[in-house]
Amino acid sequence: MKKIVVMGMGYIGLPTAAVLANRGFEVLGVDIDKKKIEAIKSGTFEMNEPGLGEALSSAIKSGRLKVSARPEEADAFLICVPTPAVAKGAGKVSDLSYVDNAAMAIAPFLKEGNLVVLESTVPPRTCRKFLIPILEGGGLKAGKDFHLAHCPERVLPGRILHEVVENDRVIGGLTPKCAKAAADLYGSFCEGTIFITDDITAELVKLVENSYRDVNIAFANELSLICREMHLDAREVIELANRHPRVNILNPGPGVGGHCIAVDPWFIVESDERNSKLIKTAREVNDSMPSNVVDEVEVALAASGYHPGNVACLGVAYKNDVEDTRESPALEIMFRLQKRGHNVRAHDPIVKECPFDLMELEAAVKGADLILLLVDHTVFKGLDLEYLTGLMRTPQVIDTRGIWRKQMEKKERYVNNAYVFQGGKS
Ligand SMILES: NC(=O)c1ccc[n+]([C@@H]2O[C@H](COP(=O)([O-])OP(=O)(O)OC[C@H]3O[C@@H](n4cnc5c(N)ncnc54)[C@H](O)[C@@H]3O)[C@@H](O)[C@H]2O)c1
Repeated sequence: MKKIVVMGMGYIGLPTAAVLANRGFEVLGVDIDKKKIEAIKSGTFEMNEPGLGEALSSAIKSGRLKVSARPEEADAFLICVPTPAVAKGAGKVSDLSYVDNAAMAIAPFLKEGNLVVLESTVPPRTCRKFLIPILEGGGLKAGKDFHLAHCPERVLPGRILHEVVENDRVIGGLTPKCAKAAADLYGSFCEGTIFITDDITAELVKLVENSYRDVNIAFANELSLICREMHLDAREVIELANRHPRVNILNPGPGVGGHCIAVDPWFIVESDERNSKLIKTAREVNDSMPSNVVDEVEVALAASGYHPGNVACLGVAYKNDVEDTRESPALEIMFRLQKRGHNVRAHDPIVKECPFDLMELEAAVKGADLILLLVDHTVFKGLDLEYLTGLMRTPQVIDTRGIWRKQMEKKERYVNNAYVFQGGKS
């Protein structure tokens, strides 16, 4: 296998294309976003992913990575396009339109012996029921004339370059021969163990991984709501419960974001709603957290006498140390606060663009009535609350991530499950 087309130059496709090119493959990266294609070509494309800049520039300099708006003939096609969830009724369902378009684009270039790998996260049976009819449009038969496999991606943003190479992979082939063809390709750059299965199992495995995380986070979040009613510190309860040798409860937070954990469980619910009650409830618990945080803020501001107030929101990303704001609970909280008339000031040193004007830390905090910590970026952990609250009109801090517990130890009082810091020189 020499030439590989990668459909979608996003968080997954771009690093994968760079790694493949640096391992000696001839790679064509395809994206419908022409601006992105131009930026990659000219070396001006930026993504806050350690090591990506270097990997990309060496792949492009070597001449082995080219980018284009259109695919062309190749030995293998990797589909790495978005698969968001869209609202339907009270829940969400998968939007496979990007997979549809990517498959339509590659179908005319498929030749006998080719390999097509779907890396995008999809509901079970998508390869068979959705993808195959599109790919077979040119007359070739999947599993007979060309190979088809699902190889779900499980990288962690911030570590993508390492994990694309180091993680174990699950490869699900439509037939054992399809799985072998995909395993041969992935075996040429993956250093983890490759596990072979069928495509439907691989599709479900990916969803199960993220649903497992979602259910466990929901348990911690539900505990935080129970503790709020009881005026107890949820984090202390969890820490003490975790002293049991077989208990390992996660931390509560302001909600679950990102394009994976907040999305993928819905694909299981969509496939079998009758039997996925726990998974669905977990989604609902986690989705309810932003409104709970807003309630905490309302209580604190009402107590301060400044309502509506100035709220300095620290962190906009969906999780720590990334610039990605997709499905970010922080953004949802900020929109809700704005809707209630509060003056939302956004600060995030990692995020480059978001629907709010991003401010410098001190500008956001000066004259504020509340610091609302929404994301546990590493840089936030060392902030001096004594100093920051000294700049505020009302020195209150709600830490939804529990990163400032030590600093707050002597000054905290609990308003529900959040810490309200009564420090500073008001
Ligand atoms: N980002 C992650 O950490 C992660 C982890 C595991 C799985 N996934 C899954 O991988 C898939 C891709 O995610 P991502 O984060 O890379 O998405 P992304 O939004 O960062 O990138 C997708 C890219 O595909 C392009 N695109 C859309 N339609 C196209 C088409 N028809 N042809 C060519 N390009 C097209 C978009 O312009 C975009 O640049 C999704 O299914 C996601 O759930 C992502």
